[in-house]
Amino acid sequence: MASHPDLLVGTEAGDDAAVYRLDEKTAIIVTVDFFTPITDDPYEFGSVAAANSLSDVYAMGGKPLVALNVVGFPAKLAVEMLGDVLKGGYDKATEAGCLIVGGHTVDDEEPKYGLSVVGIVEPGKEVTNANAQPGDVLVLTKPIGTGIITTGCKAGITPDAVLKTAVATMAELNKGASEAMMRVGVNSCTDITGFGLLGHLRGMARGSNVGATIRVSDVPVLPGVWDLLEKGTVPRGTFRNMSSVDADVDWDDSLTDEQRLLMCDAQTSGGLLISVTKDRLDQLLAELESSGVRTRAVVGEITADNPGRITVAP
Ligand code: CO
Ligand code: CO
Ligand code: CO
Repeated sequence: MASHPDLLVGTEAGDDAAVYRLDEKTAIIVTVDFFTPITDDPYEFGSVAAANSLSDVYAMGGKPLVALNVVGFPAKLAVEMLGDVLKGGYDKATEAGCLIVGGHTVDDEEPKYGLSVVGIVEPGKEVTNANAQPGDVLVLTKPIGTGIITTGCKAGITPDAVLKTAVATMAELNKGASEAMMRVGVNSCTDITGFGLLGHLRGMARGSNVGATIRVSDVPVLPGVWDLLEKGTVPRGTFRNMSSVDADVDWDDSLTDEQRLLMCDAQTSGGLLISVTKDRLDQLLAELESSGVRTRAVVGEITADNPGRITVAP
């Protein structure tokens, strides 16, 4: 494991990105993320993949500066399609104020796209997933259920309007949420992606050596998700997440299998999960609102009890 006096955040707590101090005023944040298409629209894919890659910089409280395209693309597919993917990524990076300055493409059977992003933060101001404090309140900034919706899409049973809302949510930058939390000062943050709400929360609980409680009824859910769940639409990644966290979760007996799976649903480009002291909660909610963040859900608390474990209440 890499270690250096200027490496402020490395791989030890499975954080969203690494942070390296250049001098007293500046640290760089470095991260890479890429994945396979989530819908059949190449521009949307590019835009969501870029928003997701940029998110790991936002989760650390940073400002993305430059990025490189990471591309796998089948030589047999129309090159215009790749152009649309890159255009989606370019437009999203531009919205973030981040410059795409190059990249690399390899021939690949299945398309893949994402960014390696470099951002900056003031040393000591970086927000890690390893500093949640007992008594903190947990705030989530996007609804969940994108894994279930995109899986339903591949099976042809997700209604168009449901997919459209989900894509708009995934393509939304976590920029406003990140800037809001930096204005307030919060203890801990992670973005919700492939490991699902409970998987990323467990990372925070383990890294911070605290317990956490989540209330299912307070977790915002995208429209259409419950219908798809009732039809048995669950991605493989969500089942994997469920078996990965299960031993560390105390479920309330009244919770249905569908509710439990949803809490583990593998997200693409999800929101920030922010741990903030109770006395700054109102200020955070107000700053999120003034940053235009529409979802500002108080979903649970951090506890001193049960370090590394999550209690899920109805
Ligand atoms: Co992340
Ligand atoms: Co990451
Ligand atoms: Co990531």
